[in-house]
Amino acid sequence: MLGLICLVASLVANARERDCFDKGWLFTLGDNVNMSSVGYDDHTWRTLNLPHDWSIEGDFYAGAPSGAGGGALPGGIGWYRKHFTVNPKDKTSRYFIDFDGVYMNSTVYLNGHILGTRPYGFISFRYELTPYLKPNGDNVIAVKVDNSQQPNCRWYSGSGIYRHVWIIKTNPVHIAHWGTQVVSTVDLDKGTGTIDVAVTMANASGKLQHVKLRTTVLDTNGHAVATKTTASQLDDSATVNQKLSVAHPKLWQLDNTCMYKVKAEVLSGSRVLDDYTTDTGFRSFHFDAATGFSLNGKPTKINGVCLHHDLGCLGAAINEDALWRQLRMMKDMGANAIRCSHNPPAPELLNICDTMGLLVMDEAFDVWHKQKTRYDYALNFDEWYERDLTDMLLRDRNHPSIFLWSIGNEVLEQWTHQADSTLTLEQANTILNLPRDASMLAKDGVISFNQQLTTRLADIVKRLDRSRLITAGCNEPSPNNHLFRSGSIDVIGFNYHNPWVKDVPKNFPGKPFLMTETVSALATRGYYKMPSDSIFVGPREWWIPYTDPSFSCSSYDNMHVGWGNTHEETLDMVKHTPHCAGQFIWTGWDYIGEPTPFTFPARSSYFGIVDLAGFPKDVYYLYQSEWTDRPVLHLFPHWSWIEGQTVDMWCYYNKADEVELFINGRSQGIRKKQNDREYHVIWRVTFEPGEVKAVARRNGSVVSEQVIKTAGVPTQIRLVPDKTQINADGSSLAFVTVEVTDDNGNVCPWADNDIQFSVTGGAQIAGVDNGSQSSMESFKANHRKAFNGKCIVMIQSANIPGDVTMTAKSVGLKNAETTIHQK
Ligand code: GAL
Repeated sequence: MLGLICLVASLVANARERDCFDKGWLFTLGDNVNMSSVGYDDHTWRTLNLPHDWSIEGDFYAGAPSGAGGGALPGGIGWYRKHFTVNPKDKTSRYFIDFDGVYMNSTVYLNGHILGTRPYGFISFRYELTPYLKPNGDNVIAVKVDNSQQPNCRWYSGSGIYRHVWIIKTNPVHIAHWGTQVVSTVDLDKGTGTIDVAVTMANASGKLQHVKLRTTVLDTNGHAVATKTTASQLDDSATVNQKLSVAHPKLWQLDNTCMYKVKAEVLSGSRVLDDYTTDTGFRSFHFDAATGFSLNGKPTKINGVCLHHDLGCLGAAINEDALWRQLRMMKDMGANAIRCSHNPPAPELLNICDTMGLLVMDEAFDVWHKQKTRYDYALNFDEWYERDLTDMLLRDRNHPSIFLWSIGNEVLEQWTHQADSTLTLEQANTILNLPRDASMLAKDGVISFNQQLTTRLADIVKRLDRSRLITAGCNEPSPNNHLFRSGSIDVIGFNYHNPWVKDVPKNFPGKPFLMTETVSALATRGYYKMPSDSIFVGPREWWIPYTDPSFSCSSYDNMHVGWGNTHEETLDMVKHTPHCAGQFIWTGWDYIGEPTPFTFPARSSYFGIVDLAGFPKDVYYLYQSEWTDRPVLHLFPHWSWIEGQTVDMWCYYNKADEVELFINGRSQGIRKKQNDREYHVIWRVTFEPGEVKAVARRNGSVVSEQVIKTAGVPTQIRLVPDKTQINADGSSLAFVTVEVTDDNGNVCPWADNDIQFSVTGGAQIAGVDNGSQSSMESFKANHRKAFNGKCIVMIQSANIPGDVTMTAKSVGLKNAETTIHQK
């Protein structure tokens, strides 16, 4: 029998057990009604470990139903099965299965019995297994995943059980699913902390139970700093509320995320029937209509980025190391906030943001009941919105990193429109980005359905969490936007529409304001369109085609979509607008799908500050120079052009008064940013082979230098792993940057050599990429062409300790090797 797993029962039948249930699933692409039944012959199915995304394993193709907007990869219907046994002696325990996310339309069966269906691919859910579990012999979980009707998502969704799965075992009396609510507040003046705890307990014993709830607060060193015990009578369920005080709590801050633990125990006499620990942090948020946002009393501009949920060549399949890498790079750039656009994220994203110190705006939906793509969530909204929104709140509300709820992104309910339920994606986007007429907006004296719906959604949020405010990403900046007119949007959120920002205090008196989405500048790493002081806009509007045979966009921050801006423009506006709490840039990283301004064969986005492979584009250093205290001197582009060609050299810098540029030792002049509204300096020079050097000085002394040399012919491969050791756990990743260089180690900025990779030590190549937005090469291969000199290989560890040697080979280049230790 394949994939046999035994859940080991604890000898002490009191503690809850939570086991990862990712390993040893069987999978097939295809559909048959009998695949849910216990006896179905699955012995030819593929064995795999979750998380899994089958779309990312496919080939890009022009006719993919998801379209280029969805990444031009296949969807379809897939089935997963897993065989397992439980301890036959364990007669009283309750068993549950938790899915963190299945995209989409999942139906789960246990031993042929249907447990339930969840259409929304971004929501986490639980089923109880107990009633259909066989104490003796083989149990079979079967999961049907239907992502066949596309497009259904903006943008790439992935397909399959793409997040973790868990088995939870409890006593009949236990803390309910998402049953703890922990609200930690701090009085900054007095320096005291309060934790309001509400714990919901469930009782499946069939008898009235007299229990006690004991709550203990543990500080960062694990010392108990507060405790409370409350008696309760449990029929089917009961909720106990407690208030605990913590004297002088350490604050959860962006640069020091002190976390406390709240341990809830259900006691019967002295026996612990269940315990559940929730992480929390003491922090205070405040939005002010005039002065923006403050965290723990300190004015803090929200320097945020929007992230779509895929992890590049890994697709949607969640991997903590890849997620950590994304978020770490954002943090190192100076970002202090993440917008999960446009759906609830993997729980691990919130855990990392809690500990890394990133604020999170958690977003529920990209559509309500008016569709944007043909088969999207609008089809399920009426039936499922209450459940899905409730579940997002219940799952996420204890995270200290979450500071704002977004109930939707650019939902079409901002307007009323006759034809809006039958729109194609293009038509919907046309409406989204066109000037609309006043007839579509809210009118005095009339409470529209859309206003009521906004209030309905906001009420669901408020019922479950009163400790945070509510916003929505709106691309209708008029106060007569139906969402705004509902009065239920606490923080006015604009997507784009910079010219409207100055009038916010007049149009929305007394309301806090945030740029929920900004910029949408376009860039391909390593590609430069000159003259750099010309701004290239494309597409001007959604329906105006834009073409350029290069399928590339300029990295000089001189290219953006018609509804967007350059990075510098919005950065400047946000920085100098006190009533603007901050912004979320579209986007921190490139993502699969939405290859605006192009279409197929382009298949991933150009909006990222970092490319899909994880290589920063130049503008990364603009933000780092503005948002961090790290010294920055970033000269670009490369220095390998045609002799005599005019080249614009740009430099982002900070912590210096001036920068001087030298070509082969000859000064090209000193440049200075004249005031705090200038963000780069530029020299227009004539290329000659050799070297270009930037020298930054402060008070006349040299503080830093950067040299770029003309590259010769490609002869070598350089491998740069991000770490030398990974865990031998079958899921840890090492990210190996692969650079094509000349004899002297200079990266060849035009190199596109195809490089073959092999790994030893049982490790695997989890994915390859080069950041090109129009490459048709597979992400799951053992070779990749360099793109503008670079590509990346993600190595996934085996379960066995030992060394992994990765070898890279390419015709005409010297082989290269690197070794990573698995521990
Ligand atoms: C916004 C939308 C995003 C993305 C972006 C591209 O309107 O919210 O999902 O499409 O435009 O500029």
